Amino acid sequence: MERKTAYIAPEEIARQRGFSEKIAERFAARQAHPRACVDTFGCQQNVADGQKLMGMLEEMGFSFTDEPKEADLVILNTCAVREHAEQRVFGNLGALTHTKRENPEQVICLCGCMAQEERVARRVKESYRHVDLVFGPHALWRFPELLWQVYESRKRVFSVADERGSIAEGIPTVREKGVKAWVSIMYGCNNFCSYCIVPYVRGRERSRDKDAVLAEVRELVDAGYKDITLLGQNVNSYGNDLGGEYGFADLLRDIDRIPGEYLIRFMSSHPKDATPKLFDAMAECPHVAKQLHLPFQSGSNRVLKEMNRRYTREQYLELIRYAREKMPGLVLTSDVIIGFPGETEEEAMETVSLVQEVGFDALFTFIYSPRPGTKAAELPDPVPRAEKQKWFDRLLEVQNAHSAAAHAAYVGKTVRVLVDSRSDDAEYPLASRTEGNRLVRLKGDESLIGKFLDVKITGSNTWALYGEAL
Ligand code: SAM
Ligand code: SF4
Ligand code: F3S
Repeated sequence: MERKTAYIAPEEIARQRGFSEKIAERFAARQAHPRACVDTFGCQQNVADGQKLMGMLEEMGFSFTDEPKEADLVILNTCAVREHAEQRVFGNLGALTHTKRENPEQVICLCGCMAQEERVARRVKESYRHVDLVFGPHALWRFPELLWQVYESRKRVFSVADERGSIAEGIPTVREKGVKAWVSIMYGCNNFCSYCIVPYVRGRERSRDKDAVLAEVRELVDAGYKDITLLGQNVNSYGNDLGGEYGFADLLRDIDRIPGEYLIRFMSSHPKDATPKLFDAMAECPHVAKQLHLPFQSGSNRVLKEMNRRYTREQYLELIRYAREKMPGLVLTSDVIIGFPGETEEEAMETVSLVQEVGFDALFTFIYSPRPGTKAAELPDPVPRAEKQKWFDRLLEVQNAHSAAAHAAYVGKTVRVLVDSRSDDAEYPLASRTEGNRLVRLKGDESLIGKFLDVKITGSNTWALYGEAL
């Protein structure tokens, strides 16, 4: 069977490089040294997209600054997943009227998931007239051409057409220096959970060719990266659009064969597609961290059905049981939504009881936020915010108590960590991670960054462990 996904032709990517060169020449002719400020919001996929934007900007001759007022080009790479995230972006956009007043040559660009929403693009067109360029995730690979149009025409450019999406290989990337790197293995989402905007702004699922993924991971390992996270909205459906038998578990096994000292993580996994085959592969692959982020969203079967999650509480618990049997000591994290439209207190407490029953190492907790255009946004939502907040606080109380107890159980033990960065704590100046991705603040000097070490855990709190190198 043929793959169902459109690849952007290499000639088209080369044509985009041509636009980057033209922009670089334009600056060189004016002896200008342009600076860009790229502000990324949202999930790791968006962070990975931000790194591609920076890669393309570097080819155009830009250097980078964190200060919008010093920048010739300001890019807001946005997230649409909750209303709060959108409000922040509109606030930031508003503030940019001042920087543009001081520097009328400044180019302001809105991209990422919000830009793909018709409602947002319209609002920016009408009410944020200082914004020069708007493009959604589907047009990311065409950024050089779009920016060239802005420079040449000095007119506003909008590229926000709705698409199923495509795959573009060979876009340059500026990665953070250090030990951690992100690799997108697929884009988009087919699941249409009823509360979620992502499928509307990121298009349908499309998987990169396995050879492209393997080559990228190999390159990263050779370049010294030691903590590599494979990204997708639902990595468990990797390969479904490729028409063959090859799936995510096969990809994990192939990556694991790449020689070197490194860890592989992945996120996110959808429980409806998490299978014993995946857990067997995780258990058998030494490079794969024994850590699983498996969002369950709700502990109530009625709410799960309304959310269109396509698994039950019982099926979720069975998955966890199997995964823990295969990988004793597995570190488990999850995402939860409290206050889905029509959820009752009793149903919210079923979520709390599931959290109690499983004992997650950490939880990412959200109060439901209506997203215009999704099914759930049409449902009656009678419960006041203050009531939802009470349920939410109860959930946090239970989770925080568990996190603190789980962390306390590490004290006195020796664990292997990867030292990844400096920390802001003078007494414990290094930050490191266990294989399960628990934060360990460490005593020691910077020469340890990038090393795997055995450390003794000497203290803990709800959020972190404290240790000393042996
Ligand atoms: N694809 C991933 C998955 O299904 O697990 C996660 C995608 S989403 C970027 C990250 C989390 O945001 C979700 O797991 C969900 O808990 C939360 N989320 C998504 N839409 C939301 C909404 N409308 N209100 C509140 N939280 C939401
Ligand atoms: Fe959103 Fe559901 Fe897709 Fe995750 S799986 S991105 S929550 S629609
Ligand atoms: Fe946000 Fe888009 Fe990610 S909506 S969470 S940045 S896929």
